[in-house]
Parts: sequence; C-alpha cells; structure tokens
Amino acid sequence: MTGNTIQLDKNGNLKHFLTTEGLSQSLLLSILDHAESFAGVGERAVKKVPLLRGKTIANLFFEASTRTRTTFELAAKRLSADILNLNIATSATSKGETLSDTLHTLEAMHCDMFVVRHANSGAAHYIATQVAPHISVINAGDGRHAHPTQAMLDMFTIRRHKKSFENLRVAIVGDILHSRVARSEIHALSTLGVLETRIIAPQTLIPKDAENLGVQIYHDMDEGLDGVDVVMMLRLQKERMSGALLPSEYEYFQRYGLTNKRLEKAKPDAIVMHPGPINRGVEIDSDVADGERSVILQQVSHGIAVRMAVMAMIMGRQPDNMGDTE
Ligand code: CP
Repeated sequence: MTGNTIQLDKNGNLKHFLTTEGLSQSLLLSILDHAESFAGVGERAVKKVPLLRGKTIANLFFEASTRTRTTFELAAKRLSADILNLNIATSATSKGETLSDTLHTLEAMHCDMFVVRHANSGAAHYIATQVAPHISVINAGDGRHAHPTQAMLDMFTIRRHKKSFENLRVAIVGDILHSRVARSEIHALSTLGVLETRIIAPQTLIPKDAENLGVQIYHDMDEGLDGVDVVMMLRLQKERMSGALLPSEYEYFQRYGLTNKRLEKAKPDAIVMHPGPINRGVEIDSDVADGERSVILQQVSHGIAVRMAVMAMIMGRQPDNMGDTE
C-alpha cells in the first residue's frame, strides 16, 4: 500500500497524500514550512486567502470524526475552496450504491479533491487508483494503516516547541497495534531524523512487525518515559479490537495511564500530546490533559494550517502567492 509512484507526480510534487511512509525529508519539511506560512491566516480579522478559489473539495467520511473532518472543512474554506460534506448515513451509499458509483457521481460534479476517512486499511489508496486523473485524494485515516495529516500536524507541533528533530527522544504510549496515527508518526519521526522513537504498551497492543519499524519497545511506563522530550498518548481503539486484549480499563490506567507523577520521569520541559479523542481516566489523567505541559488543543489548531498546506501543495499553490486577504 505504500509507494510514491501514486503519491507523487512525474515532477516529484504531491499528487495524493496517502501515507507518510516513503516520502522524503525535504517533502515533509516543505509541508511544515508551508503550514508555518498558513498559520497566521487564522489570526487575521478575515480568515481567508484566495488560493483555491474555484476548486471543489469533497469530505467523504465513512467513519466518525470530529477534529479531522471539521479542520479539513475550515482549511478548505480558509483557502476559499468550495467544500461538500457528504453525509454517508443519508447518502446513496446507505441505499446500496457502490463506493465506485458514489465516487463517479462526485466526479460528475467536477470535484477536484476527495478527503477520505474509511474503516478499511487501504481504502484511500484504492480510491486514488479509481478516480479520474485530475482528482487528488487525501487520506484522513484508513483503518489501522495511516493518518498522514495527523502525523504532520503533530510534527508541526513538535517543531514549534522543540525547534528541530535531531536530538529528540519521543515516546508513543498506548494502543499502538490499532493506531494509524502511531504508524504515520513513526515513519515521519524516522524520516525527520529524531534520535529515538519509543513505543510503550502491553505486549498485546504492540504490532507483530514493531521491530521492523525502527523503534525501541518498552512495556514498563517508568522505563519508557525516562528522559523523553515528547510524550504522545493514544486512546484504546476498542472499535478495532476483536477480542479482550486487556484485563480492565482500571488496570490499564494503573500501568499505562499518564499521571503527573509518571510524567516526572520525562524531561522537565517534555510536552504531552494526544491526537484525540481523549479518554480521561483511561489513558490520561485530567490533571495532565489540562496541565501546562499539554499541547493537545494546540495540535487541533495546527491541524488547520497543516491541512491548508497539504491541500495547497497538491493544487500547486504557494503561500507566497496568497494575495491580499479577501
Ligand atoms: N485525531 C483524529 O483523527 O480525531 P477525529 O477522529 O476526531 O477526527
């Protein structure tokens, strides 16, 4: 499912954004730099630039979302694109229409880009192979495979706080097995050259191929958090668990929940991240989630700038050509 033959055009520019795996460091840094240029748009009196005026983007969310769907919508609106939010529950998909027929229907409306979330790993890649050549696809999360814009907004947040990647130790904690966020983060962190990526989880929530991902594996929270610069917490993704992988949520919190006491193991200036939705008292204590080291809500804000950057880059638009505020 990887491979940049589909993600990049013949000039090496982004055509689709399906996974962080295999993309070059310079491309990932370019996304972050573009996002930096767009971050100020949200602070203007009129939060809009005309870069994608005349373009039509369709949000196709076949799975629930709060942050990703709304920040893609805001990002598209801030770029002056027209955005369609397909309500899958009331669309023809719920009447038995195939995915391909739904896509071709939207193509007939002259859409330029599909933003796709789907419960099946590989769905965004499949759609990218099916659509007309002028349409681009952005993966907004597919099964347990990838969530590349989440990874890039997290990289943006890390760079804002830590300035560079090269000396960082990053711990990703929790349900790594079912997490598309963790996979996309691990690839991006590796490409951006962090010193060390650790994953901390019970054995039942570690993927079988973890050793091939270039990470250090820990089962003990205190050992894994020792001296890290960034702590990235993940929720238990019960919707993707096929059986009982944990004794109880109470026991999970006792062993892997992030409390202020546990956070003392990390560096004093370590930041705490979470892609959301957070489950208070399961993977993270409220005192930490709402504490001064938490950057969880900053991650949400940064999602708009990063998604503007990805959409603009795919459409071949540069932030230095943003023009005046409309
Ligand atoms: N982080 C994330 O993907 O959140 P949503 O499921 O709310 O979009």
